[in-house]
Amino acid sequence: MPTIVLHRGGHVFEGEVKENTNLVVRAGIKQFPYPNLRYGCGMGKCAKCASRILKGGEHLTPPNWKERERLGPKLEDGYRLICQLWVNQDLELAQDDQPLQPLASSPAVPSAGTT
Ligand code: FES
Repeated sequence: MPTIVLHRGGHVFEGEVKENTNLVVRAGIKQFPYPNLRYGCGMGKCAKCASRILKGGEHLTPPNWKERERLGPKLEDGYRLICQLWVNQDLELAQDDQPLQPLASSPAVPSAGTT
């Protein structure tokens, strides 16, 4: 069974989960990592679940389009949207004290000149 280690707010929370587990779904039914995992929509929109992967990221599937759209360059810093991941191996992750602000879903339209 995968072991999950979650760092948040200066604390470390550890627990085991079944294979092929979505941590946001588990938290939604009040199982570990509830109540310590921050999340919101569960659908890859709000980025509240964004976490830095500290260990085990090599076992995760590549970021999907929602993660690429919401996280952008943060992906390079090791951030993932936890609601978009199914865990099959040990994973260590950290959530920042403040949630990430998701990038806009589409590039801003350049404003017209005022001349
Ligand atoms: S919970 Fe909203 S993006 Fe993951």
